[in-house]
Amino acid sequence: MKKDIIKERSSVTGARTPVGVEVVNLCKTFGTQSVLKDISLTIKPGEIFTIMGPSGSGKSVLLRQIAGLDLPTSGTVRINGLDPIDPDTRDRFALALVFQAGALFNSISVYENLALYLLEHRLCPKNEIRDRVMRGLKILSLENAAKKFPSELSGGMKKRVAIARALVMEPQLLLYDEPTSELDPIMSATITEIIATLKHEFQVTTIVVSHDRDLALTISDRVALLMKGKLRALSTPDELRKNEDPGVKDFLNPTIDLKHPRYLELEAL
Ligand SMILES: Nc1ncnc2c1ncn2[C@@H]1O[C@H](COP(=O)(O)OP(=O)(O)O)[C@@H](O)[C@H]1O
Ligand SMILES: [Mg+2]
Repeated sequence: MKKDIIKERSSVTGARTPVGVEVVNLCKTFGTQSVLKDISLTIKPGEIFTIMGPSGSGKSVLLRQIAGLDLPTSGTVRINGLDPIDPDTRDRFALALVFQAGALFNSISVYENLALYLLEHRLCPKNEIRDRVMRGLKILSLENAAKKFPSELSGGMKKRVAIARALVMEPQLLLYDEPTSELDPIMSATITEIIATLKHEFQVTTIVVSHDRDLALTISDRVALLMKGKLRALSTPDELRKNEDPGVKDFLNPTIDLKHPRYLELEAL
């Protein structure tokens, strides 16, 4: 990451004001399965807010609700007071989502992946697209990958391309779904640093869904712990470390106990 390039504050900047998010009594049900159970939380403009929790606890479903990709069963999500799913208001704030699997198009180059988004969403005049894409690639140290295809990239590079593609949209709200999953510890640390640096430099409100404890406890302003669709804890990382709730302690520091193995208590599917 090149600090001087980030500091350039050209077109790809956080000149836009960060937005706040309010989730009130949110419930989401699929068929008979209740996935989100009465979630209420407020995310302040400009903070890094991490949603942690075991696999299947509803983290990605919650993120999709915040992104306006899915209708709530009941309750509301508001971004600066606006409904993210309402076609009349959703263009009034800039939101970008970095999907867990990257969601890159494999048949086009890295450059085209970034440019296509700008073109399709008509986010800037055609003659500015090249500058904006190249600056996005520079910020993520990807200039040399511009002509490559996603299949030619390592896992860490793919994640950086997905982040660059979100960044060229100049988001006021940047959402990441499991940005460090399937990465080695060093690359996870690198991506964690990138998330914190982008938030710091561009003042973009950042929501990260992750079960990566290091990421959550290092860079977050606040952390929400979701378990079986319910909010189990919501606090600063320091407070979370001191939380005495056995479920929270076990999630943060699970022990491997071969005398009382957990797998015996797994619920049948
Ligand atoms: N579109 C869907 N239709 C039916 N069930 C879903 C759908 N999306 C998620 N689920 C279910 O909701 C639960 C929570 O999923 P998810 O939010 O993806 O968990 P995670 O915390 O691992 O991100 C899972 O049991 C999953 O199977
Ligand atoms: Mg998920």
